[in-house]
Amino acid sequence: MMGPHKIGSRLMLGFGLVILSFFGVAAYSYLRQQDVAGALEEIHKVEEAGKAGLQLANYAREKYIHEAHVLLGGGPGHEEHYQRAEEAMERWLCEMRSLLTDPEEMHLLEELDARGRDFDRHFQEEILPVVRRGEQESFLPLHHKTEEILDDILAVNETLSSRLDARIENTAAFARGASRQARTVTLVSVAVATLLALSFSWLLAGSIVAPIRKLVAGTEAVGRGALNTELAVSDPTELGQLAASFNRMTRELRDRREELVRARHLASLGELAAGVAHEINNPISVILGYVQTLRKEAAPGGSMADDLATVEAEALQCQRIVRDLLDLARPVDRVDEPMDVREVLEDALETARRTRAGAAVKVRSSFAEGPLLLDVERRWLKQLAVNLVNNAYEAMPEGGELAVEAGPLPDGGVHLVVSDTGVGIPAEHMDRIFDPFFTTKGAGTGLGLAICYRVVTALGGRIDVASRQGEGARFAVSLPGRRPGETS
Ligand SMILES: Nc1ncnc2c1ncn2[C@@H]1O[C@H](COP(=O)(O)OP(=O)(O)OP(=O)(O)O)[C@@H](O)[C@H]1O
Ligand SMILES: [Mg+2]
Repeated sequence: MMGPHKIGSRLMLGFGLVILSFFGVAAYSYLRQQDVAGALEEIHKVEEAGKAGLQLANYAREKYIHEAHVLLGGGPGHEEHYQRAEEAMERWLCEMRSLLTDPEEMHLLEELDARGRDFDRHFQEEILPVVRRGEQESFLPLHHKTEEILDDILAVNETLSSRLDARIENTAAFARGASRQARTVTLVSVAVATLLALSFSWLLAGSIVAPIRKLVAGTEAVGRGALNTELAVSDPTELGQLAASFNRMTRELRDRREELVRARHLASLGELAAGVAHEINNPISVILGYVQTLRKEAAPGGSMADDLATVEAEALQCQRIVRDLLDLARPVDRVDEPMDVREVLEDALETARRTRAGAAVKVRSSFAEGPLLLDVERRWLKQLAVNLVNNAYEAMPEGGELAVEAGPLPDGGVHLVVSDTGVGIPAEHMDRIFDPFFTTKGAGTGLGLAICYRVVTALGGRIDVASRQGEGARFAVSLPGRRPGETS
């Protein structure tokens, strides 16, 4: 069987979903923030590269100036200045290389490098030898070439610089987009998670609060005395189990109330019967006395003797009824000297076996080891045993199996079971078999089970019957031991 869906796991599922969605939102916005931070970092690098580009252009111009000075005969100092500007330009080129990664930009950078090298080669290999040789007529064309190379360098640098500006613009736009997106997603997700939490609470209210309300209404109804209140147990959670045990409880209460009503009913019937029985007891004893005297005097075998025998038999039956009726009203008390239930049961079985010699009944008894002592007057135990065993025999006119079990109860009491494979009890009789005078037998008085019931309930025990028509019957009796403080 699948275990019930525990309320705990429902709660965990619900809260888990809410927490998970909040976690998802947090993770997403963290990642977007990382994106924005990455973009800022990139912008910073590109700006640095832009600054380096400016420096590069400056030093290219400086180199041009020193070259011009050298041509104008400014002396060897300018060669040195040119050298330093050249080194500085190299440094800034290196700096830019370390900052840029884009292949297009790298390509432009290499172009710059190549142009720079052209500049140097022109200066070292063409200008300086000509200056040293003093060939003044070549100066102007050489200077023009220098100007051309410088223009190239500045143009490439300009292209690179506008590319970098565009990159900054793009990256900034990306960062703005990412942070806008993060804001929107966070807002939407928080709204969704809130909705989720609200619908979870709503579901929780439906699946927990509503059944609890029903339970409360049920208990209030029971409190008002409506013991036939039944709750739906379809809920698969612990609340369903609670509803089931609530139903069990009301059923038990109902049974107890019925028992109480029956006990009261029996008590008043018993009182009435006992009053009548008491009045009849003496006359019957007198009648029996006279009949027995008359029988002795009557001629044996005559019609008078036969009539008197019939009168005696009927009077004895009356006496039996009267005795049973008186039993129904007599108090059932505890005694100080305990009786052995096992011995009483064995006696009853033995008597039944002897008096019902014709019946093909197989008796199977299983008793716990040792005596089963109970501090109850023997006559009551005997009434119990004899009535249950006799009923079993009478239920099996065609023969069958009678099983008798007895054993101790943990509280010092005794439990016994008498079951047969006889005709069984129809469902419609179940409610009435313990009523006095209810009988389905021609010769029965219907007092047997009424007395059993009275004895058992007076001792604080219970008697349960399970039977189906045609499938035998099973009477289970438990008799508690004496409770502390209980007197005999
Ligand atoms: N073991 C049983 N199997 C089938 N029906 C039973 C059994 N025990 C009792 N009954 C039914 O319960 C009725 C009442 O039983 P109860 O012992 O009170 O009276 P009785 O046996 O009819 O008469 P009495 O015991 O006074 O001779 C019986 O008439 C019978 O219908
Ligand atoms: Mg009986």
